[in-house]
Amino acid sequence: MSGSVFGNRFKISTWGESHGAAVGVVVDGCPAGLPLTEEDIQIYLNRRKPGQSRFATPRKEDDSVQILSGIFDGKTTGTPISLIVYNKTARSADYSEIAGYYRPGHADFTFDEKYGFRDYRGGGRTSGRETIGRVAAGAIAAKVLKTMGIELITYSRAIGGIEIDPDHMDFNEIDNNPLYMPDAQAAANAADLLEEKLAQKDSVGGIIEGIVTGLPAGIGEPVFDKLDASLAKAIFSIGAVKGFEIGEGFNAARLCGSENNDAFIIGKDGAVAKATNHAGGILGGISDGSPLVYRAAIKPTPSIARAQQTVNKDNEEITIHIKGRHDPIIVPRAVVVVEAMAALTILDLLLENMGATMDGLIKFYK
Ligand SMILES: Cc1cc2nc3c(=O)[nH]c(=O)nc-3n(C[C@H](O)[C@H](O)[C@H](O)COP(=O)(O)O)c2cc1C
Repeated sequence: MSGSVFGNRFKISTWGESHGAAVGVVVDGCPAGLPLTEEDIQIYLNRRKPGQSRFATPRKEDDSVQILSGIFDGKTTGTPISLIVYNKTARSADYSEIAGYYRPGHADFTFDEKYGFRDYRGGGRTSGRETIGRVAAGAIAAKVLKTMGIELITYSRAIGGIEIDPDHMDFNEIDNNPLYMPDAQAAANAADLLEEKLAQKDSVGGIIEGIVTGLPAGIGEPVFDKLDASLAKAIFSIGAVKGFEIGEGFNAARLCGSENNDAFIIGKDGAVAKATNHAGGILGGISDGSPLVYRAAIKPTPSIARAQQTVNKDNEEITIHIKGRHDPIIVPRAVVVVEAMAALTILDLLLENMGATMDGLIKFYK
């Protein structure tokens, strides 16, 4: 299977299955001299850990990361950084049934069609656990970006149709509720909705929003490696993501040019700025110096406890009741995954941009 490598300059290679021995990532291209500890990575991993709330899968994993290479005396050495997280509580017996049928909304059918067989234990490589490698690598990318004054803030904007109220938005609230919503009232309403859906043996989806501040103008390569195109590919590579937009996104289709254009102005510091940010911080695929604003739509968790209609490998129509441990909502656990993929994309293009001009090249080598 190809396709487990991401990035050009800051390159990651993720590996491992949900019920295999471990999952992990190799990071190639991290600049030498970055102070880095397991704790830096663990803080990120803890944000996607299962079993932390009533609304996440009860699978109890400590997800503790071990750095195998690439660090000496507390700093990156410029050599590949290898990170591993052991799977400790895999209960493969829960999944033996799904070897013989196709779960609606999952990749079972397409994997069988493509490869002729699959690792059905916990979804194998298509499981949410595949994202551990991305998050661990994203923690490193985010640390490099933070050192350069670039910060990412990511949260749940909507859960099953319950959306945050911009007038009640408070970023300090994000870590105060298990749904990572920056609005306490919306989080309480969403929790009630999730209780209702749990009782109905059903699930809901939602929207994740990210804001990146401190990003200088000029990041993103024209044509195929535009910043928005690269972010779209990165975020769409996460399981369950069904939509992606920048700034006004799909709403731009409903606006007039006079409403959607951001007027250029001279800012307080005398530099060119924008009066508004409908573009979401990207023009022509290149960052414009305004905050980058993007959103990802996440589908409802496909594994639901109620009876579902499907087909088995013998071509028979059957009714199934999925066993195992599942998230009634994927959105809160995917928040950090989305942030990690954004950090990896931005850092990769930031490094790529170093060779964009002769002036820049001469300044670097002189
Ligand atoms: C962090 C994360 C956790 C997930 N947890 C579950 C889960 O508990 N149960 C489930 O059915 N799907 C879960 N998924 C979604 C499936 O992996 C995904 O929907 C499936 O592989 C089909 O891929 P697609 O939705 O991209 O078509 C999770 C996804 C992510 C990113």
